[in-house]
Amino acid sequence: MISRSVLILKWVFLLITILANGNPPEEPVKCSNNFTNCTITNSYGAFPDRSTCHAAEAAYPSSEEDIVSIVANATREKRKMRVATRYSHSIPKLVCPDGEDGLIISTENLNRIVNIDTEKMLVTVESGVTLMQLIDEAAKSGLALPYTPYWLGLTIGGLLGTGAHGSTLLGNGSAIHDHVVQMRIVTPGSQEVGYATVRTLEENGELDGEMMAAKVSLGVLGVISQVLMFKLNIGVVL
Ligand SMILES: Cc1cc2nc3c(=O)[nH]c(=O)nc-3n(C[C@H](O)[C@H](O)[C@H](O)COP(=O)(O)OP(=O)(O)OC[C@H]3O[C@@H](n4cnc5c(N)ncnc54)[C@H](O)[C@@H]3O)c2cc1C
Ligand SMILES: *[C@@H]1O[C@H](CO)[C@@H](O)[C@H](O)[C@H]1NC(C)=O
Ligand SMILES: *[C@@H]1O[C@H](CO)[C@@H](O)[C@H](O)[C@H]1NC(C)=O
Ligand SMILES: *[C@@H]1O[C@H](CO)[C@@H](O)[C@H](O)[C@H]1NC(C)=O
Ligand SMILES: *[C@@H]1O[C@H](CO)[C@@H](O)[C@H](O)[C@H]1NC(C)=O
Repeated sequence: MISRSVLILKWVFLLITILANGNPPEEPVKCSNNFTNCTITNSYGAFPDRSTCHAAEAAYPSSEEDIVSIVANATREKRKMRVATRYSHSIPKLVCPDGEDGLIISTENLNRIVNIDTEKMLVTVESGVTLMQLIDEAAKSGLALPYTPYWLGLTIGGLLGTGAHGSTLLGNGSAIHDHVVQMRIVTPGSQEVGYATVRTLEENGELDGEMMAAKVSLGVLGVISQVLMFKLNIGVVL
């Protein structure tokens, strides 16, 4: 009897160890054949309806130029596109392209901190940069992100897309998108413009209205590419 409870305890312990290990979740996008014939899920491995979505192809741009080329080709071919991220943490099926012939554009390789301006407390990042990267790199320059949702694997593009937030009563609130100064977004375009357009949306700029509209886009208005800027605070070391 005792040995059986010990055995059960061991199993429970093993299970907890497996569930609680610090490894990041699996890749959400998996392709069977050279970036084609792909499945897409989220970091839990399951959407609420327990389905897995399909896409004909996945692309991994590593620059804005790559994004433009990918979006233009897909637009010309009239293919549906959606943006996926390193861990795709969202529970809803935001990332699933309609039908079976869709294209997944992953921001996994758009992962560079482009610039940190300590004086103005602004950071420019590519959209696939994770919260962990942003917080770590900003800290090296003595800056801190004042408000943040709680999981470090979220990407800047994803948390803007979903209006992610922490909580506070201070300043302009705890939604990350309220701290964005400028963003660049690649959208499908007409044949005349080569099937893709890059727009720079800027707070108080010419495209301020578009910026307000596009910030929390649920990923349906285009691919946020390379540059976003946050008003950061001076980090306080306790
Ligand atoms: C357990 C749990 C706890 C959570 N806690 C919080 C919380 O504390 N606060 C909170 O606000 N939210 C919370 N959320 C929601 C979470 O913040 C969102 O799921 C998160 O923002 C997703 O980020 P991601 O980088 O994984 O993006 P994804 O889930 O991969 O993508 C989200 C959307 O953004 C789009 N997108 C991503 N990158 C780009 C891009 N570069 N250009 C255009 N579109 C893009 C995608 O297509 C998709 O539509 C929680 C979710 C879970 C499951
Ligand atoms: C994979 O695709 C690339 C680019 O389209 C091509 O050059 C390469 O030959 C392909 N590899 C295989 C194994 O099909
Ligand atoms: C596509 O992938 C599925 C598994 O996800 C596999 O069963 C099927 O054979 C693949 N088809 C092709 C044409 O490679
Ligand atoms: C887009 O199409 C052009 C012309 O067919 C091709 O040269 C280019 O490699 C394609 N770009 C991508 C990212 O597939
Ligand atoms: C709040 O937002 C306004 C308008 O964007 C800006 O002028 C102000 O500096 C912001 N305040 C803080 C504390 O970030």
